[in-house]
Amino acid sequence: MFFKKKSHEIDLNNLPKHIGFIMDGNGRWAKKRGLPRSAGHRAGAESLKKIITEANNLGVKYATVYAFSTENWKRPKDEVDYLMSLLMDYLVNAEKTLSRENVVIRAIGSRKELSEEMQRQIIKTEEFTKKNTGIVMNIALNYGGRDELVNAVRSICTEGKVPDDITADDIERHLYTAGQPDVDLLIRTSGEQRLSNFMLWQVSYAEMWFTDKLWPDFKPADLHRAILDYQNRGRRFGGI
Ligand code: IPE
Ligand code: IPE
Ligand code: MG
Repeated sequence: MFFKKKSHEIDLNNLPKHIGFIMDGNGRWAKKRGLPRSAGHRAGAESLKKIITEANNLGVKYATVYAFSTENWKRPKDEVDYLMSLLMDYLVNAEKTLSRENVVIRAIGSRKELSEEMQRQIIKTEEFTKKNTGIVMNIALNYGGRDELVNAVRSICTEGKVPDDITADDIERHLYTAGQPDVDLLIRTSGEQRLSNFMLWQVSYAEMWFTDKLWPDFKPADLHRAILDYQNRGRRFGGI
């Protein structure tokens, strides 16, 4: 039997090309400290900056971060408003912070439900960072995996394809992440072990990595641990 030799150092030639982050546990982080949930979201946004910087420095090419799901509108209005204002600040500040680190920022998800101000800022930040050559960071904002697939199917239909001609490539071409590699490594914090409608198509062969740590406590060292575990797994993609 073949056992992969376990390494204790990250192999920079075998990095996951695309890492997905389900950044969960901000609310519980705040609750533990007797703080309002908003404080947890603020701490989570700080955590995100550090993690993207680290992933970029390592040489990871794509990161998708789940910031707001199509289901998160169910939360109380003041929390939704706070999350939206935090995301707005994040996009505005990214021009000074992450863009200087060469990060390309994109938003994925349905935009029409977002405020016009947010929609304009997304376009602005995307334009501002599109010539950068570092990591591509997809911010999943009003994103749902089912919504993405429904939209893809609708677009394929409007192209006038007959059913027998529809291929997996056609679906891929119509995803928000068209042209990007599939997710290799999916990280979820806070102890929950579910997808919560995140990138249903793109995670088909992703390695899943879970930690009990809450997102604001997730540190670059934890990212290293996840990547190391990833590199010590045997990916078979259905083969032997
Ligand atoms: C994740 O943290 C952030 C968003 C969903 C926007 P939560 O707000 O879900 O935190 P918990 O799960 O309630 O602790
Ligand atoms: C998933 O977290 C969405 C984001 C991290 C943005 P949730 O906290 O919304 O997921 P559930 O409700 O626990 O499945
Ligand atoms: Mg949660």
